[in-house]
Amino acid sequence: MYKLRHLCLSQQCSFMAMTSLRLMRVMTQRASFSSSAVKWEGGVSMVQGASRGIGLEFVKQLLEKEKGHVIATCRNPSGATSLLHLKSKFAERLSILQLDVTNESTIEESAKSISEKYGSLNLLINASGILSIPQVLQPETTLRKVEKSSLLLAYEVNAVGPILVIKHMWPLLKDGGGLGTERDVAVVANLSARVGSIGDNRLGGWHSYRASKSALNQLTKNISVEFARRKDPITCILLHPGTVDTDLSRPFQRNVPEDKLFTTEFSVQKLLSIIHNAKSHDNGKFFAWDGREIPW
Ligand SMILES: NC(=O)c1ccc[n+]([C@@H]2O[C@H](COP(=O)([O-])OP(=O)(O)OC[C@H]3O[C@@H](n4cnc5c(N)ncnc54)[C@H](OP(=O)(O)O)[C@@H]3O)[C@@H](O)[C@H]2O)c1
Repeated sequence: MYKLRHLCLSQQCSFMAMTSLRLMRVMTQRASFSSSAVKWEGGVSMVQGASRGIGLEFVKQLLEKEKGHVIATCRNPSGATSLLHLKSKFAERLSILQLDVTNESTIEESAKSISEKYGSLNLLINASGILSIPQVLQPETTLRKVEKSSLLLAYEVNAVGPILVIKHMWPLLKDGGGLGTERDVAVVANLSARVGSIGDNRLGGWHSYRASKSALNQLTKNISVEFARRKDPITCILLHPGTVDTDLSRPFQRNVPEDKLFTTEFSVQKLLSIIHNAKSHDNGKFFAWDGREIPW
């Protein structure tokens, strides 16, 4: 009888010990979660495709005008001289990681390294994109010039890549959420283009680029629906930066009026204001640089 009671008591004790151990584990996880939110004043932002153009300017303005930490990713960090220059000025607040959107293992590695160093993300900007590559990809002016390889390459870089980045950063964004200030949600901002709009397509042409951006739009909208259904504190938006003076637009700027060709400084300033004002009800919307919505 004594033995039986003793056995029951010791089982109770070990059950209680296990329960309190579990409770302690949960509390420790919460503590480390909230400490990471407090630790990174101004939040943690990731800019994917940050070696040149609009992505590089996002990194610059986030560092120069704001307080948070920035993770800049690019295909070839050792050759990204402008990013390295920023690193020498903002050594503590800027991390540079290697990421090629066509190689999923580099995305996974980046997510792992961000998780270890920061534990969460408050903003993800997907800025990478291709329109033309000499001898490889040219925006098609007629169906006759459409090649399977061009369609697939544009689709891989412009649509598939950014979505895989969101897939791997999702847990970090969920943990990051908003900044606790005017922004109540983490933001995913995908750089799209007005030419990706089907409703707004009056000129035709540029089959690969247009279709890849339309695919990016649909995938982003789809993810926004899933995040909302799961009540994740993340808002996904699509941004058209205007026609911006970068390597991407340079070969096609001839017919663009001077006042319609933006500097990266101007465009990114406008886009950052849309990002910082984004609320949960903006989830799944497609905005132009001036804050106006673009039809699908
Ligand atoms: N400029 C415009 O007028 C305009 C208009 C509408 C939309 N957009 C969109 O805005 C975004 C930025 O364009 P941008 O004008 O800044 O272009 P950009 O100056 O040509 O820069 C493109 C960026 O994408 C990166 N990239 C290309 N392939 C990549 C890959 N496989 N993995 C990772 N990164 C890759 C490039 O990195 P590397 O240095 O390694 O090549 C570079 O950092 C693009 O999505 C573009 O479609 C631009």
